[in-house]
Formats: sequence, structure tokens, C-alpha cells
Amino acid sequence: MHRKCLIAGNWKMNNGLSESVSLVESINKRIADMRDVDVVVCPPFVSLSDVYKCIKQSLTMLGAQNMYPEAKGAFTGEISYTMLRDCGVSYVILGHSERRQLFGETNEFINRKVLAALSNNLLPILCVGETESERESGETFKVIDEEIRECLDNISAAQSEKLTIAYEPIWAIGTGKTATPEVAQEVHAHIRQVLGDLFGHKIADSIRILYGGSMKSSNAGELLKQPDIDGGLIGGASLQATEFCKIIEIANGLE
Ligand code: 13P
Repeated sequence: MHRKCLIAGNWKMNNGLSESVSLVESINKRIADMRDVDVVVCPPFVSLSDVYKCIKQSLTMLGAQNMYPEAKGAFTGEISYTMLRDCGVSYVILGHSERRQLFGETNEFINRKVLAALSNNLLPILCVGETESERESGETFKVIDEEIRECLDNISAAQSEKLTIAYEPIWAIGTGKTATPEVAQEVHAHIRQVLGDLFGHKIADSIRILYGGSMKSSNAGELLKQPDIDGGLIGGASLQATEFCKIIEIANGLE
């Protein structure tokens, strides 16, 4: 099964309005003719509309970094899926480890978000991954199985075709420590097996599983060559146009 590579930049809480616009303009200039890779940029909420204006005529797609699972109401400070759609958003990152660790998001709450996104025409990028101590105590697969099964509870096989999963080992995020291609591949293959148990192997074969955690142009090639690594969710390296575009060029050049 050929899965088109997806490279997504998670800008996290970086870049104000003018920086967001100039970053996306430089990215878009360089990647205009790359058709063998899907590209998504995920700026902070307040820059979504302005970034969308810069990319709407291009192949680059817009993602959000989070979402509240209701259409509207008394949820001070939150942003709904309808608001994201209005801004031109196609993808939404859900269950990022920073949301889990710093803002107390549980698998159950993330499951509500995944269901709401899928029912409202947004494509979820569901993040899963173990901490360093969970890896050291041999619990990686257990933690990831639980995250996947609980975050994807009640999702139908038809809906699951719209999913993207991101494996982000927490010990590799922003630390410069990347998982080796072999370590990442082992977990990606395991995730695909769990998805197969849940939705059938044909669908699991079509779902993209991205790697995230200190991915940069110097390690992207080896990671993306692995059979079950279908792209990257990139933090730090997505904030510099040259570096991010190099990763996109590498992905575009893969078989
Ligand atoms: P870094 O690429 O900065 O390690 O961040 C990865 C990440 O958390 C993407 O969502």
C-alpha cells in the first residue's frame, strides 16, 4: 500500500501574526511544485486566518493545534470546530503530549475531541507516545495501546479512514534526542497492528502514521524510509523555512 507522505509543522506557541505570514510565505515559495508530499502548517489560533489567506491558492493545508469538542457555548477561552472550519482549517492536532502533561488532558477527553472533529469535517492528527521512564520500564506498547484504544473509542471503521496518528516519544520532543529509525519503526508497526485490530487491516494499511520528536533534515531521510513511517510532525525544525523545506524536499523525493 502506497501512503503519500505528510509533513506537518507544529509551530506550538511561536510566531506572532507578521512572523507567521512571512514564515508561511517563504515555505510556500520553495515548495510550490512538490506534489508527492502533503504539507500542513499549524500556527497558533490567532494566526490561522492570515496564514490561510497566504496558502489558500496553493497545495499547503492548514492545521490547528487543539480544539474544544463543542460547537459553541460557555467555554471561556476555548475554540470550537466550527470556528476552525471558518478559518480554513483542515487538520487538527489532538492529544499532543504537551496538552496531556501541562493541561491535564485525558484519553477520555481526547476521545470526545476526536469524535467531534470527525463528525465535523476536520481531520484529526492524534498524538501518542511514552515517557522516558515508561520506555525504560518496558511499558511503551502498553501505554500506546491504551492511548490508541481509549482515544479512538466509538470511532467507526468508516470514520477511521480519516485519521492520522503521530507517534511522538515524549523523551524525544524538543530534546534533540531522536528515536533511531529502528526504534521508531518498531513502534509504528505496532501502532498499525493495533489499528488493524480495531478497524481491520485494510484500513490500518491506509492510515498515515507520522513520527514526531526532534525530526530535522539530517535525520528525516532515514526515518521516512522506514516502511511504517509515513511522514513527520515537526516542532522546532518547522520554525525555520529552510530547514522545514529541506524535510519536505526529502519526503517529496522518496519512492
Ligand atoms: P520537536 O520537533 O521540537 O521535537 O517537537 C516535536 C513535536 O512535539 C511536534 O508536535
